[in-house]
Amino acid sequence: MQAFQFKTPGTTIFKAGSAANSDTYRSLGIHGNVLLVSDPTLTKIGIVEKVRQAITECGSSVILFDQVEPEPKVSTVRKLVEYASSKMVSHVVGLGGGSPMDVAKIAALMITSPQAVESMYGVGNARGTRLPLVLIPTTAGTGSEGTPVAVVTGDDGEKSPIVGPQFICDSVILDAELTLGLPPGVTAATGADAMVHAIEAYTSAVRKNPVSDRLAIQALQLLHGNITRVMEHGEDLEARGNMLLGSMMAGLAFANASVGAVHALAYPLGTQFHLSHGESNAVVLVPLMRFNLPVATTLYAEISRAILTGSDAQNDAAAATQLIDELAQLIPGIGLRDRLSQYGIDEKDLDSLTEGALNQDRLLSYNIRPMRREDIRSAFYSVLN
Ligand SMILES: [Fe+2]
Repeated sequence: MQAFQFKTPGTTIFKAGSAANSDTYRSLGIHGNVLLVSDPTLTKIGIVEKVRQAITECGSSVILFDQVEPEPKVSTVRKLVEYASSKMVSHVVGLGGGSPMDVAKIAALMITSPQAVESMYGVGNARGTRLPLVLIPTTAGTGSEGTPVAVVTGDDGEKSPIVGPQFICDSVILDAELTLGLPPGVTAATGADAMVHAIEAYTSAVRKNPVSDRLAIQALQLLHGNITRVMEHGEDLEARGNMLLGSMMAGLAFANASVGAVHALAYPLGTQFHLSHGESNAVVLVPLMRFNLPVATTLYAEISRAILTGSDAQNDAAAATQLIDELAQLIPGIGLRDRLSQYGIDEKDLDSLTEGALNQDRLLSYNIRPMRREDIRSAFYSVLN
């Protein structure tokens, strides 16, 4: 019998309209001074105000920090902690995509357990306990609300993940109404990221377990089954809810298994060419699935049978290939680029991209099939033009 651990946030509320309702925060025991961490866009479109008002109505004071940028910098985290440290904060609420949620996670820890952000880089290096933490995703993608991971960009421009049990939040509010206005480009990129989380969790070389497996499969059924619908009908609340749920399930799956080489190759595309996290994952997904296929045939076939119902595949090899072909069509079908040259990337850039991917040795070691330098370069080359 395989032993495993599974960690998850304490409470998840899945209800349309719940983030703008004071009863939600009352039921979670929110009180005192609440640090609300978000970004300028969410302030501009009125989402921050809805949440701020609901928290205030349950008798709390809101201290707002809405200056989190995409690919948040360590300097932003320091600024936030400096701003909030003297304000007797009792709860932290992270509202947004992965960036505000990740910054909220780190701030909740640093306010009570001061330490340098850089000293936390890697796995298990964060020290101490954090403030009570609520996360409210406004995109269906990163799954950060379900994971012990926060990613920051250092002063040197390198993105560094920080992984620790303190970053698993206490409560998650999944309110599909918050995602109704997501532009198609963000919907597609974040949705692709979520699908990658589930695929990599299901095929991970480490910690994969029966609970993460079921979550990954259900996540893919929800994400694959709804992504085209939300692209065509962005106001479809039910489809948006399914994406949000699928995204969190995929986050829980990879938090308790792992992501792998797709994320390793995606990192340098983000740092060197500024592709968004979802765009960079989407462009390398198919070549890495083709690379993994010889050792992942059975697992890909299982995913394929779960999401491509009605398939006539006669054996595992055919089912696995159908899955890869389906994803190869889906990615451009939802408006995502599937060639590096479409981002202005040239053959001469492949060595530095390969070097950047090799730096993600931890993620590479979690991939189901070991990758050598030449395998990474070939994977990039295969989607160059
Ligand atoms: Fe991701």
